[in-house]
Parts: sequence; C-alpha cells; structure tokens
Amino acid sequence: MPTELNRTAVTEYPIHPLLAERWSPKAFADRPIPADVLGSLLEAARWSPSSSNEQPWRFVLIHREDEAAHSRMVETLSDSNRIWADSAPLLIVGVVSMLRSRSGRPNAYAWYDLGQSVAHFSVQATAVGLHVHQMGGFDKEQARVVLGIPENYEPVVAIAVGYLGDVANLPEEFQADQANPRNRRPLQESVFNGQWGEAADM
Ligand SMILES: Cc1cc2nc3c(=O)[nH]c(=O)nc-3n(C[C@H](O)[C@H](O)[C@H](O)COP(=O)(O)O)c2cc1C
Repeated sequence: MPTELNRTAVTEYPIHPLLAERWSPKAFADRPIPADVLGSLLEAARWSPSSSNEQPWRFVLIHREDEAAHSRMVETLSDSNRIWADSAPLLIVGVVSMLRSRSGRPNAYAWYDLGQSVAHFSVQATAVGLHVHQMGGFDKEQARVVLGIPENYEPVVAIAVGYLGDVANLPEEFQADQANPRNRRPLQESVFNGQWGEAADM
C-alpha cells in the first residue's frame, strides 16, 4: 500500500481545491503520462497571458523511455535533485526567448511569462491527477548543450511531471522532507495597504 500523505494547503481564506491540492512531490509512480493528457497540460501553458502576447516560453520534453536523452538530461541536475527526479516519467525544460520578436530588444517579462505559463500547466496537471515539481537546480549551460538550445534562448527551469509515487521508496532524508507540514508566511507579511510596510487589514 502506498504511504498516504495529506499535503493539502491549510489556508487563511478558502481557495480552489486545484490550488490547495497542488504540491511538489519527490516520489513519482512508474506510470507513463498519456499523450493526450500531456497535450492538455501544454495547451493550458499555451493559453497563458504574456507581455505583448510574445509567448516567450518554449518547452523541451524529455521522456524517460528515451533512455539516452533522459540520462543526458538527468546528468545536468544537481546531485540532490538527480536522486528523486530520475524516477519521473517526464522531464521538461522551460526555456525563454530573451528577445522580443518584433523589436529584437530584450524582453524583461520573458521569465515572468514563462513562470505564469508553468503555473497554468501545473493547475491543469492537478486537475488530471498529475504532479509537477519544478527545479532551478540544474546546470543551465550543460542543458543548453545537451538539448541544443540556440543563442538568444535561455533554459530557466527543469520540471518533473508524473503521477504520485510511494514515498516509502524514497531515501530516508527525502521521506522526512515529504512529511513536513507545508508552510507559507502569513498574508500580512506579503501584502501592504496603499504603501510599502503598511499592514493590510486582512
Ligand atoms: C523556480 C523554482 C525552482 C525550484 N527549484 C527546486 C529544486 O531545485 N529542487 C527542489 O527540490 N525543489 C525546487 N523547487 C520546489 C520548491 O522548493 C517548492 O515549490 C516550495 O518548497 C513549495 O512547496 P510546494 O510546491 O510543495 O508548495 C523549485 C520551485 C520553483 C518554482
């Protein structure tokens, strides 16, 4: 029996279950993601808003069954990410186009827009019972080489995607990590009223 974890956010105000139930696991099941389900996740990312509708995001998919490509990508991950992310059936590298398509000038919103498209992807993933775990811990230059990412594009985030696995299969230090309560600082520390530092009456 897989060890059950309740990771639902404990919120100050009610939020949609799709948001409350999203979390970043380290244990993934050995179960492939159907192509049409993955299509929906990518479609959700595609319909994200972006500055001037530039859609600066690009996604490189690395399926676990494509063993050579997968092991080249896994090699780019930091040691601590490699241990668990290796088991996800899909890794995705989120890439930004750094220049605006019309003016050729730097797009200061590219990273913001990629993040928002990954947020859409994550919500859609939750809706179909999938989990997403984003990673900054990978060697961007190595990923650029192994994935053939051209100049003026920058790899930003690696994303493990899959169905939830059994936490009991993880190394002990990760099991403890997955059992810790999820936490966030209080809303009042992030939200100001009218002026920086003025507590909002929440
Ligand atoms: C841009 C970004 C980079 C992250 N990098 C890593 C990482 O390298 N390794 C890791 O284990 N988790 C990483 N995370 C996951 C965060 O640690 C996680 O989202 C945060 O602790 C909140 O937990 P939750 O997603 O379960 O709510 C990253 C998340 C984001 C959005």
